[in-house]
Parts: sequence; C-alpha cells; structure tokens
Amino acid sequence: MKGLVLSGGKGTRLRPITYTSAKQLVPVANKPVLFRVIESIRDAGVEEIGIVIGDTGDEIRNAVGDGHRWGVRIEYIPQDEPLGLAHAVKIARPFLGDDRFVMFLGDNCLQGGISNLIEHFQNSQYDAQVVLKRVINPQQYGVAELDQDGRIMRLTEKPRQPRSDLALVGIYMFDNSIWEAVDSIQPSWRGELEITEALQWLIEHGRQVYPFVHDGWWIDTGKKDDMLEANRLVLEEMTPVVEGYVDRDSHLIGKVIIEKGAEIINSTIRGPAIIGENTRIVNAYIGPFTSIYHHCTIDSSEIEHSIVLEHCTIRDLPHRLEDSLIGRHNEITRSPLKPKAYRLMLGDHSTVGVL
Ligand code: TTP
Repeated sequence: MKGLVLSGGKGTRLRPITYTSAKQLVPVANKPVLFRVIESIRDAGVEEIGIVIGDTGDEIRNAVGDGHRWGVRIEYIPQDEPLGLAHAVKIARPFLGDDRFVMFLGDNCLQGGISNLIEHFQNSQYDAQVVLKRVINPQQYGVAELDQDGRIMRLTEKPRQPRSDLALVGIYMFDNSIWEAVDSIQPSWRGELEITEALQWLIEHGRQVYPFVHDGWWIDTGKKDDMLEANRLVLEEMTPVVEGYVDRDSHLIGKVIIEKGAEIINSTIRGPAIIGENTRIVNAYIGPFTSIYHHCTIDSSEIEHSIVLEHCTIRDLPHRLEDSLIGRHNEITRSPLKPKAYRLMLGDHSTVGVL
C-alpha cells in the first residue's frame, strides 16, 4: 500500500495567505495540516508517500524533506498546473505502479486518523473505497447517491439539487483499475479531470466502489472559517502540557499547551489554546480556541478564537481580536501618531473589520 498526498492547487479561497505560501502548511493547533496528513498515513502503516506539488513545491519540499522525521520515504511529484484531482492521480502513476494506494488531500483534517479505513480496504476485494460524511451543505461537495442496499449509484460534483447529504471526504483508496478510469475520462466544464468522474466510470464499468461513512468530524480547511473550526476541534482533543516558562502572576485555565521556549508573563490563558515555541505573551489575555505559532509577541492585548502565524507582533490593542487568521510576520499595534487614524498596509484580498 502506498500513500498519495495532493499538495498542489492554487488555494484561491485562502487568499491572501496563499499568495505567499502553501495552504497545506498553514498550522492547525501549531502543526501544519500537511504534517497531520503525513502522520495519519504513517500511523496507518504506510511508509511510501508521494506528494503532488505545484507552484508552492519548493516551500513544501523545504518544510517536509525526505520524510525521515516521520520514519517514511517521501517522493515529490510535480504537477505543472492544477488540472484536477484525477490528473494528479494520473501523473503519479510511475510512483504508484500497480500497488493499492490511499489518496489524501493535503488540506483535509479527519478525526481519528485513517488506520481503520485502510485496514478495511486492505482486507477487502473492493476496487476503490471512498469516505463519505453527512453534511448540511452538499451543494459545495462531490455528492454520493446510494441505492437501497447501500451501494453507490451515482456521484455528482457540486450538484445544484443534491439527491443526498453524503459528501465525498478528501480521502480515497484505489487499486490498479483506477488507471483505466483516469485514462478514459475527459476534462469537465471547469477544465479539470474530476475524481468523481473517474469513480463514476469505475461504478459504470462494474467495479466495486465501497462507501465508508465517517462518523467523526472532517474539515476541508479551504477557507478561513474552516481553518478556525479545524483549529477548535483539534485543540479540544489535545493534552495540556507546559514546556515553557509561566511566571507566578499568570493563570493557565483549562487545556493549555505552552511549547518550549515560550514565556508567559502576567497573563491569563484560557484553553483550549496553544502557545508556540519562543513566543512571548506579556500582560495579555489569550482566550479559548486560539493558536499562537512560534516567535510571536503578544503584549497588552486580548485574542480569542484565532490563529496567529509565526513571527507576528500584536501590541496594545484597545479591543479584543477575535475570529481572525493572521499571516506570518505581521505587526498589529496601536499607533501613537496624530491625527488618530487607521494606518494599514494590507496585501491583496485582505479582510479587516474595524469598530
Ligand atoms: P482544492 O481545495 O479543490 O483546490 P485548491 O487548492 O486549488 O483551492 P481553491 O479552491 O481555494 O482555489 O484542492 C484540494 C487539494 O488538492 C489541495 O490540497 C490542493 C490539491 N490539488 C492538487 O494537488 N492538484 C490539483 O490539480 C488540484 C485541483 C488540487
């Protein structure tokens, strides 16, 4: 069994963060989503992993390396353009050969890992296995329609009038019958080779595609609010630990993780929350569902339900910062300059809400 992780794509929904970096490397509870994906494939016993990369390939190679950190072997598969999930599978054929494989979208988070899914597929005669999850907005996903015996009848990509609420989660398992399927389909109206069409081809050609309905949570971290939701869910499952310094005037309440080299001075941190390596929290309040990454300074400010990426400084804010995703190397401070005014330097597609 091999693993295939898709980390190309454009990440338009997560702009402006994705103008300068790969969305799969945005951290959820201070660990990039892609690292979580690699860990869950490794934990399921798969040691050979191919990662499909696009424009942000160099950054992904630098962050992930050859995989020895996780005890796996990683090979990179460059995709010139994001021409679809089935296209990514197609170009990975030299790496995958005739092995069965699991394909995992590099920006997806799934509760409980994938060991049981892989075990189920390995012990079966199925040609493919898809993971389904009941959702309230199926129009936004690939949707599966099952017959009375629970077999998949039809798969439709983002249907206007969905016939079920079962969405395709970004985890698929295939045997070598997928090669004929991806070679037989044509690009869709949006110019992509769709994985739903490859699966539909398998179904129509008598192959067995098993629908595995997942009970736990699943998040596709494509947008800011999804990132915050994934952050909330992962933080809730973490075990509190203090590896940094907390002074006597500070209070840690609930599940709080303080990573190495972090300093908490005269501050309150109400978990679930995580403070990254070498970050300083001074005279501040960090509220629930907040992840502050490494090398940040939060001084005399309040932050809640937010993700702050590395090397940020947030100082002297007169109001609490909430529901925010702050990119790297940002500085947010109260300005002493007169006249009193907002002074901003924002990248394209930024969103700012002021009082
Ligand atoms: P998507 O989220 O569907 O696409 P995207 O990353 O381009 O994002 P957006 O819609 O915001 O523009 O992709 C799911 C995952 O698959 C993501 O990790 C990127 C990856 N991917 C590829 O590697 N190659 C591809 O051709 C496509 C379409 C996606």
